[in-house]
Amino acid sequence: MDVSAFCRQSNVVVVVGKGGVGKTTVTAALARTAAEAGLDVLVLALDDSGGLPALFGRDEPFGYTEVVLVEGAPPAASPDGRRDRPGLVPGRIRGRVLTPDAALLEYLADHGLGRVSRRLVQSGALDVVATAIPGVREMLVLARLKQIERDGVADLIILDAPATGHAVTFLTSSGGLADAARGGPLRSQAEQVVEMLSDPARCQVLLVTAPEETPVNEVVETAYRLEDEVGTRLGPVVVNGCYPVIDHLDADPIAAARAAGVAEPSPSDARRIHEAAHFRSRRQAVERHQLERLATELPLPRVVLPYLFTAGVGPAEVVSLAASLTAGIEALA
Ligand SMILES: Nc1ncnc2c1ncn2[C@@H]1O[C@H](COP(=O)(O)OP(=O)(O)OP(=O)(O)O)[C@@H](O)[C@H]1O
Ligand SMILES: [Mg+2]
Repeated sequence: MDVSAFCRQSNVVVVVGKGGVGKTTVTAALARTAAEAGLDVLVLALDDSGGLPALFGRDEPFGYTEVVLVEGAPPAASPDGRRDRPGLVPGRIRGRVLTPDAALLEYLADHGLGRVSRRLVQSGALDVVATAIPGVREMLVLARLKQIERDGVADLIILDAPATGHAVTFLTSSGGLADAARGGPLRSQAEQVVEMLSDPARCQVLLVTAPEETPVNEVVETAYRLEDEVGTRLGPVVVNGCYPVIDHLDADPIAAARAAGVAEPSPSDARRIHEAAHFRSRRQAVERHQLERLATELPLPRVVLPYLFTAGVGPAEVVSLAASLTAGIEALA
């Protein structure tokens, strides 16, 4: 599938997965992939922006005001009339946080209540309201997301969602509120959120998992719950952190060295190589089994991202994962 078309399928992508499977990393990689395909991208983080800023080489956490993370090549032609600017990504990436407090402030400001709103939020009024009305915090954030989407400020908005358990509550709470509220702005906001979440042209969920037992169980369960309870379009499942497959791991290190005409390892080195190969072979078998299980239990296409053997994942690794993501998307039917 064409990458630009893939990234333009819906205005918002919510990245969902079990804790630690790589949601934030995949959010960054998808943003990069979309920007490389020429899209103007806005990444949204909840509460504290976690590791997202660092993945774009930033030390500071995101604030409520957007920051430009990747500049993007200007669309205008350069003086010599050529458009290509080597090394520059055609699309721009911006980032910001989206918190219930900020969402409430922005909502009130939009409705001409800017002056009272700050005092209201500072006084802790939101906490009182949130305790009285479960789901209102999540709804405020999603209502703001809906507004940002409606304003058309970017070609693609990517939300790095909370870990799965919370993500399902996060995405289902507005439906509950729309049912519970008798009328007024709360109900209409909740209804508009539900409308966005269930419209495939406006929003889709990208599920992320690791090729391991529990994350696969959880991603299957989450997929069905999101389809049943929210009616959200589900994108391909991103299976993150798969070891690149190495063949012939059962080879005898000494015989293999002899056959290759290189120096033979000492017996103790040969034993260590054999142990490492055994570990890798077992790991590959586990991953193969989990990928097969995922394919049978969840009828969604899959995109596999490699495990990167590095001390830390930073901007360079995001570029590399974006290349894998691009290849995975291109291989989709
Ligand atoms: N493909 C990969 N190869 C190597 N390391 C990875 C890869 N993807 C993610 N990681 C590392 O795994 C850890 C968890 O990743 P990440 O923070 O993206 O997960 P998360 O799902 O957002 O976690 P949380 O639920 O805590 O928000 C990080 O240290 C990250 O650098
Ligand atoms: Mg994260």
